[in-house]
Amino acid sequence: MLRRLFVVALMIGTLPMLAAAQGKKPATIKVQVPDKPTRTEITIEGKKIDEPATVKDSVRVFTTTDLEADKSYAYKIEVVIIPNNYTKIFRTREVTFKAGETVTVDMRVEDKKVDKIEVRWVPTPEDIVDKMCEMAKVTEKDVVHDYGAGDCVMLIRAVKQFKAKKGLGVELFQNIIDEKAKPLIKASGVEDKVEVRKGDILALTEKDCEEATVVLLYIGDDLGARLSPVLQKALKPGARVVSHRFTLGDWKPNKTIKVVGADGDDYTLHMWIVPEKKSDEPKKDAPKKDAPKKEEKKKDEPKKEESKKEEKK
Ligand SMILES: C[S@@+](CC[C@H](N)C(=O)[O-])C[C@H]1O[C@@H](n2cnc3c(N)ncnc32)[C@H](O)[C@@H]1O
Repeated sequence: MLRRLFVVALMIGTLPMLAAAQGKKPATIKVQVPDKPTRTEITIEGKKIDEPATVKDSVRVFTTTDLEADKSYAYKIEVVIIPNNYTKIFRTREVTFKAGETVTVDMRVEDKKVDKIEVRWVPTPEDIVDKMCEMAKVTEKDVVHDYGAGDCVMLIRAVKQFKAKKGLGVELFQNIIDEKAKPLIKASGVEDKVEVRKGDILALTEKDCEEATVVLLYIGDDLGARLSPVLQKALKPGARVVSHRFTLGDWKPNKTIKVVGADGDDYTLHMWIVPEKKSDEPKKDAPKKDAPKKEEKKKDEPKKEESKKEEKK
């Protein structure tokens, strides 16, 4: 027994020497992550790395296993950035290196082509949806879209209480569509007017949005910043965007109000009104054959209102 233990101890002791003899050594990977009060989860080559919940310094250092000399390695680095309790940003990079090298990968830099963003489902209370529809002056002439639609409460209220012509929702998760949205649309008796599609806000094109005359949102600042340029290009002059709490990147709202909900909580609502396109930009509402004349449309446009900004929670 003692002899066996001695042999095992000898083997363990000589393993690094054997690796060194074969020219094997580890590499060092330095992962730079956002250092604001943000939680990050790091996975390297499929292995989740334990780390303290809050990252204060922006560099995490990892040592690989012993690697073969002169061979190139490519490791996948995945980081989930959690800037608040409702948003997750998924960022992936590949890093290549050889044994003994130290490489640094900067996971703080946004890459719009590959980053994914998700926010969790939190429904907007019905009375707050009504305030948003009042702000947007929704009428029977409006086509209302909600990107990140959840149970579609915004579209259902717009159609039922404000007589909107049609509602279209886009939702990332099929289970929310099947278990929340579709049953509520059915129970509300608006199946003929409210439609919900599976889709990612980050994949929305101008074509997907151009039909909307009103867009209602509750999606977090990070998704809002990514959606903002698409909306500004796609929507026709006079279209209104109303957001529960969150902003749209550097697009300044025309109006911000604070309201107290039936639940006693404060709610901040922002509204943007799509301006006339500048003369050098192609006009979205340039009259097409058979299209109604511009004068007729203008009558329904809400007036521009003063800008004011506030944030809740
Ligand atoms: C805060 S909830 C708002 C739901 C609804 N608009 C409301 O105000 O009641 C955000 C919704 O967006 C969905 N969502 C999250 N990330 C998304 C994405 N990248 N693309 C589309 N939908 C997304 C969530 O599943 C959730 O249902």
